Amino acid sequence: MLSWVQTLLFMSVLFPVLVECKIRHYNFTVVLKNTTRLCATKPIVTVNKQFPGPTLYAREGDNVLVRVTNHVQYNVTIHWHGIRQLRTGWSDGPAYITQCPIQPGQNFLYNFTLTGQRGTLLWHAHISWLRSTMHGAIVILPKKGVPYPFPKPYKEKVIILGEWWKADTEAVVNQAMQTGLPPNISDAHTINGHAGPVSNCSSEGAYTLHVETGKTYLLRVVNAAVNDELFFKIAGHNLTVVEVDAAYTKPYKTDTLFLGPGQTTTSLLTADQGIGKYLIAISPFMDTIVAVDNLTAVGFLHYNHTLAFTPTTLTSIPPVNATSVTEVFCESLRSINSKEYPANVPLTIDHSLFFTIGVGINPCATCFNGSRAVAAINNVTFDMPTTALLQAHYYGISGVFTDDFPAKPLIPFNYTGAPPSSLQTMNGTRVYRLAYNSTVQLVIQGNSILAPESHPTHLHGFNFFVVGRGVGNFDPEKDPLKFNLADPVERNTISVPTAGWTAIRFRADNPGVWFFHCHLEVHTTWGLKMAFLVENGKGPNESLIPPPSDLPQC
Ligand code: C2O
Repeated sequence: MLSWVQTLLFMSVLFPVLVECKIRHYNFTVVLKNTTRLCATKPIVTVNKQFPGPTLYAREGDNVLVRVTNHVQYNVTIHWHGIRQLRTGWSDGPAYITQCPIQPGQNFLYNFTLTGQRGTLLWHAHISWLRSTMHGAIVILPKKGVPYPFPKPYKEKVIILGEWWKADTEAVVNQAMQTGLPPNISDAHTINGHAGPVSNCSSEGAYTLHVETGKTYLLRVVNAAVNDELFFKIAGHNLTVVEVDAAYTKPYKTDTLFLGPGQTTTSLLTADQGIGKYLIAISPFMDTIVAVDNLTAVGFLHYNHTLAFTPTTLTSIPPVNATSVTEVFCESLRSINSKEYPANVPLTIDHSLFFTIGVGINPCATCFNGSRAVAAINNVTFDMPTTALLQAHYYGISGVFTDDFPAKPLIPFNYTGAPPSSLQTMNGTRVYRLAYNSTVQLVIQGNSILAPESHPTHLHGFNFFVVGRGVGNFDPEKDPLKFNLADPVERNTISVPTAGWTAIRFRADNPGVWFFHCHLEVHTTWGLKMAFLVENGKGPNESLIPPPSDLPQC
């Protein structure tokens, strides 16, 4: 009899391709760490005492195993944002959607394979507001021997954008839930964990990107902020975007990146300017009446051999309400759509859905003003269950959810006009059911019930194609004629413009329960979320795998 090691060695001789794909082991230990920012110290929840957390590196095709061990007093889960999780929904991570949380002292092994994706993504806690400090990048390199579809960069850098509160963020969200008022805005933005000298606090560090003249760098920029869409600029330099949300794009040259929370943008930077120091600046986008943390964070691009005391070349940041900058950026991104990287846009549609999303106000006897802020999709404010939806689905536990999520608003109104007289939303834990491999067109329409607002909207378990966007109300007659079905950008998170709409298409080829929500954490908290239930297919590889034996219990 051969031992399993011998068998593996024997097989690797016979089938060398089989061992090309590696198993990548990671240990993520969730621990508190006292951290000082803006001249104030607080304990924060971290992975491995790092802020931002460790970068998870792997190659396309690899099997990733992450043991998450919880040593804090909170329940935790981790979501691998943008990883398709084909048939492995148990490892997706949103609390009470695909799993019960990992309780204090417990651990769970996330186990997934990277299929058909390469580029930059992020991981983050997916329970309450813990992701404010529990997040990091995921880098999926191409398979060994497969080049990038752009010139090989000299070096690669990960740049994580974040948001910092001086107060404990769990206290911030708990207070908001009790009062019914919007949560306090953050006190700073951060680049790789630092706000830079703008903080008026001499101990505050700054991110510095060291470059050598003439070399090209691949910048993997991740927006891990909680509530803010952000602009990213480097003084005196253009960036060439080559990939977003782990899908390659046609090269797009710009001086400003725009990223909503949960989005990633990978671009080439050539150090082609004079030796010196150049400002890196991130600033928020908000083109409506909602309060925002309007502080810029800065870092530095530093050429080697720059003399000390050389003044920094500055840059102007876009105005906070620079809608046109966001429009140009969003509309310029295109899929490569080549033989190697085809854009398989669904051309026939089984489910044509229309979701109107926004913020509203419901009565609340115990709240500060007798009312509370809520958010909804098709007027349904999602109630978090206490049993995870995926377990309820797999084991057929009734009473946890209903599968009657409305495909369109029950009462149509002028979505971007004056608000309707009755503002109240209804509560429910409703999912929308899809047969395996069915195709979906979803028009996401922002509404103006309380205030129109830009919503970076995220779908778990899938990439979708962004076939159209516009301002005002979606016109089902005229707007589809302008859809881009040839080379639309492929993403997992897309901004729905303020008082406007975005149309996406995807194929339901991943059985499981998949969360869909606004990635502004404040809106998720208020209920701007729902889930798609995708049934198993009939073929051999078309079913959700059985749950892992260590899946946490609620
Ligand atoms: Cu990045 Cu459901 O989240």
